[in-house]
Amino acid sequence: MVSSDTRSRLCCSEAGCGKSVPRDFRGYSCPACGNLLQVVTDPGPDSPERLKQVWRERRGSNHLLDTSGVWRYREFLPYAPGDEVFSLSEGNVPLLPGQKTAQYGGLERLWFKHLGWNPTGSFKDLGMTVAVTEAARRGAKVVACASTGNTAASMAAYAARAGLRARVYLPRGGAAGPKLAQALDFGAEIQQVEGNFDDALRQLMAEPDPDIYFLNSINPFRIEGQKTAIFELLDQMDWNPPDFIVLPGGNLGNSAAFGKAIEELSAAGLLARIPRLVIVQAQGSNALVRTVRAGGRALEVVPNPQTLASAIRIGEPKSWKKAVRALRFTNGLVLDVTDDEIIAAKQVLGRDGIGSEPASATTLAGVRRLAAEGVIDRSATVVAFLTGHALKDTDAILNSVGRRDG
Ligand code: F0G
Repeated sequence: MVSSDTRSRLCCSEAGCGKSVPRDFRGYSCPACGNLLQVVTDPGPDSPERLKQVWRERRGSNHLLDTSGVWRYREFLPYAPGDEVFSLSEGNVPLLPGQKTAQYGGLERLWFKHLGWNPTGSFKDLGMTVAVTEAARRGAKVVACASTGNTAASMAAYAARAGLRARVYLPRGGAAGPKLAQALDFGAEIQQVEGNFDDALRQLMAEPDPDIYFLNSINPFRIEGQKTAIFELLDQMDWNPPDFIVLPGGNLGNSAAFGKAIEELSAAGLLARIPRLVIVQAQGSNALVRTVRAGGRALEVVPNPQTLASAIRIGEPKSWKKAVRALRFTNGLVLDVTDDEIIAAKQVLGRDGIGSEPASATTLAGVRRLAAEGVIDRSATVVAFLTGHALKDTDAILNSVGRRDG
């Protein structure tokens, strides 16, 4: 039995459509136009100053919901009673000042927000606490996702907490070993798919069983949790927005989430100005770069995506329209970097004592490029997100030893 909720509903993410359906609607796309749905929540009557104060006070509380860096910002999340939330105390990751990395990036100062320091080692945990809580609320028994590894590991952990069966579709050879090991450790059923991530996602979506709840980023509840990375960042910056927020782009769920967070915080009067989003892709998997270059109206698919950053080896990103919207709203930028640039940036991050998996290092590589081109000023305030822990892909480290030293 599903508890009723009048604060949140689902709404088409295309402004021109605007179709609205109840929160419990079974589906991920708009029944009118087929575009992805998004959650719309009424944050309530509190003033911006009051919200900032409440969120700051919750940091000192030991209440389960307050110790989560996601649920702490629950005014902007779909309602869930405290005893029905499945949390691993996700979020709460520090903002680290870069040292060698700032110099390498060509900036006076550079900050890193390391979402790889989450319970299963990637930013996916922020979304999974909300989406698995929603799965349980809806009475789902099985949750499933296609993944390059991190989504699978995270979903499996939260599903285990909630007592749900987890089924993951992985491109054979396309998910780093430690990620596969995590999914197994958390008890997931593994389906190896011939082909790449896009093929695995197609196979998942063709799954005929309507009782399986999908937890890829087409699931709008995932996006809600991932949104809070921006809330926590701004909280840590005392609500002084940076000039640029830089993140990697793969299936573009996180780009969608960050854009939505900035839109909502701005509408609620919590942002003095709009930070510019910078989405960085790997050159061999650069569907959004090509799409934006071609005008942003139709997705330019990369049929055989390639990059050593296996997490973002994706050619047909499902959230591309939401990402284009995020770029437009924030006057953002998208660029791609080569695998050599990714490895070099990753090595500099390591020399700064901040490990990360290759997909994360795209952000430092992107910053360096934009600073060299004068797009980012040396004195700008820049926050680069790191999305996955270094131990997620140790082969990438071992294989690049001696290859190039940043
Ligand atoms: N960084 C890491 C470490 C990732 O695992 C992913 C995506 C991304 C960046 C890109 O995020 O898809 O929201 O644009 N990993 C997915 C997975 C595809 O299956 O784990 P995105």
